[in-house]
Amino acid sequence: MDAENIDVLRTKEYWDTRYSKEPPDHEFDWFKTYDELAPVLSAALNFDHKILVLGCGNSVRKTTKIILKLVQSLSSALYEKGYHDILNIDFSHIVIEKMSAKHARMEQMAWKVSI
Ligand SMILES: C[S@@+](CC[C@H](N)C(=O)[O-])C[C@H]1O[C@@H](n2cnc3c(N)ncnc32)[C@H](O)[C@@H]1O
Repeated sequence: MDAENIDVLRTKEYWDTRYSKEPPDHEFDWFKTYDELAPVLSAALNFDHKILVLGCGNSVRKTTKIILKLVQSLSSALYEKGYHDILNIDFSHIVIEKMSAKHARMEQMAWKVSI
């Protein structure tokens, strides 16, 4: 994406279109993976903290082992570590619907459409 078009990243329309074209299991990390963030997060967070994930998208944790390739969202990786009070917010209802369905078994974690 060139600099002229970068402003589209601010628009809900861009993200709704992008997320509606992606296959259901598609996940993508724009910043860092959970494994890269884990040392910083574990130093800053307690298990009873309320965690807000703004612009959650469908970020992913990828762990590649010799046989097993584990793929899960940043929020689900946190949840499985024991951080349960997580609110995920995104203005794209498409990604929130996909991610909340995918993580339905993680009952204490919420997914909300919001700006
Ligand atoms: C670059 S992606 C980052 C996704 C994820 N946090 C990651 O690091 O991989 C930006 C996300 O923020 C959402 N977003 C952008 N502007 C927003 C706003 N004003 N309010 C809520 N969500 C927004 C987009 O829909 C998109 O899912």
